Amino acid sequence: MGAGYVGGPTMAVIAQRCPHIRVCVVDISQAQIDAWNTDDLPIYEPGLLEVVKESRGRNLFFSTDIDAEIKRADMVFISVNTPTKTTGIGAGKAANIKNCELCARKIAEVADTPKVVVEKSTVPVRTAEAVRRVLATNEGKVKFQVLSNPEFLAEGTAMPDLQDPSRVLIGGMQTPEGLAAIQELVDVYANWVPKDRILATNTWSSELSKLVANAFLAQRVSSINSISALCEATDADISEVSRALGYDPRIGNKFLNSSVGFGGSCFQKDVLNLVYICESTGLPEVAEYWHQVIAMNDYQKSRFTQLMVRRMFNTVTGKRIAVLGFAFKKDTGDTRETPAVFVCKALLEEQAKVQVYDPQVKRSQMFVEFDYTCGVNKDNTPRLEESITTCEDAYSAAEGSHALAILTEWDEFKTLDYQRIYDSMAKPAFVFDGRGVVDIEALRKIGFEVYCIGKSKPKYSLDSPK
Ligand code: NAD
Ligand code: UDX
Repeated sequence: MGAGYVGGPTMAVIAQRCPHIRVCVVDISQAQIDAWNTDDLPIYEPGLLEVVKESRGRNLFFSTDIDAEIKRADMVFISVNTPTKTTGIGAGKAANIKNCELCARKIAEVADTPKVVVEKSTVPVRTAEAVRRVLATNEGKVKFQVLSNPEFLAEGTAMPDLQDPSRVLIGGMQTPEGLAAIQELVDVYANWVPKDRILATNTWSSELSKLVANAFLAQRVSSINSISALCEATDADISEVSRALGYDPRIGNKFLNSSVGFGGSCFQKDVLNLVYICESTGLPEVAEYWHQVIAMNDYQKSRFTQLMVRRMFNTVTGKRIAVLGFAFKKDTGDTRETPAVFVCKALLEEQAKVQVYDPQVKRSQMFVEFDYTCGVNKDNTPRLEESITTCEDAYSAAEGSHALAILTEWDEFKTLDYQRIYDSMAKPAFVFDGRGVVDIEALRKIGFEVYCIGKSKPKYSLDSPK
């Protein structure tokens, strides 16, 4: 249940690796299901289309006939969105598990044979208890077992993450029936995942581990981003510091890239959810500790935009800024919580004209994101349509602009013809690299004034005029 970024790819891989299992992905959105049944899939994920095409129509199906598919299933994965609540108790922090509960109610209503119900969505710890109680309303007729099986895929690398996962986590009740249900799910994954990477735990450890894994990853990005500010103040270089840290096997060299800030649908939501759970369980010190991860991310995003405005002589009014990259990371078209939206909003407030290019994000999607994330929309923001131009490529975005802001680390931005771009821009031509993509020295040689997160300022900056 849920044909999104998780449900679609996850089930496509199960169908690919287990041709003897019939997999059907259902959703309440007809448009979403229709797209999964074409070659123009509703999400962009490298390698996904090939995997879908291998099994679609064989043992992989996409349907809106939710009732019929629940009835015929032995196992039902709940893979629906669990966004941060926007109103009511816990607004702005707590995860809304309404969709999970609706799925459980639907299963309870239509099931007439026993089912293993699997929480694939990321949920607050102890959600399985709510799912179990809702299912129990039908337990006179049908037996249910509830498992927690959180998903660890990252967007952009979902296919390798699913085909060769670091681990599969399965939590369940420590009763004979619970352990049997765990074994049923282990048997599915064991078709392609080595047994020593399939971890079984109690339900609550599994639910909590998912939140904690994302909190640790987000914390790592915030930690390195905090140090990027210190590097800029001291002429230390963040890439060199990351490299030096990464050689320590206790620290490891992954996830140490400083950036304009983390985005995506998971990190902020899951850390805030963890904060809320800590507050609700009477642990304010623990809550405050994790809240700093979000505070540091907000600081990083606003620090970047302030740097842009300050370096461009304290005004960007009427200036054109080329924004290269709008997705929250490379190799995805997903824009949820993308730092690009915060940067663009701040530039628009300064009355700049923004020319955006992203290889995977459509103009309509950008406007959805503006509206959702910061309430900036065509109705309440005069001239929004004219202030944001979307471009076919990086060169047209850069043409006539005063600055480039690189906000997603798409590989193609590394190999652009920067001389051509420089020639087409207003001078002085600025580059603000929020992703450590460009060769700073090469660009400075061309004549650009380059600022990069965590790197020293150009010698001819405002502090020491050229
Ligand atoms: P998504 O928004 O891409 O997809 C969710 C889908 O569920 C939508 O298509 C929606 O129409 C459908 N849906 C909602 N209510 C439904 C219902 N009652 N019945 C049937 N379908 C319903 O969300 P996502 O990114 O796939 O995330 C799903 C869950 O997985 C979330 O809890 C998320 O935190 C977690 N997760 C996401 C990622 C990621 O990278 N996106 C990674 C790991 C875990
Ligand atoms: C994350 C987790 O990695 C994944 O395990 C979980 O299942 C879902 O949430 P995702 O959000 O898709 O995955 O991408 P991820 O690669 O974690 O990146 C998240 C954000 O952090 C991106 O904006 C990325 O650009 C940023 N990031 C990541 C950095 O700024 N620096 C890094 O070193 C790594």
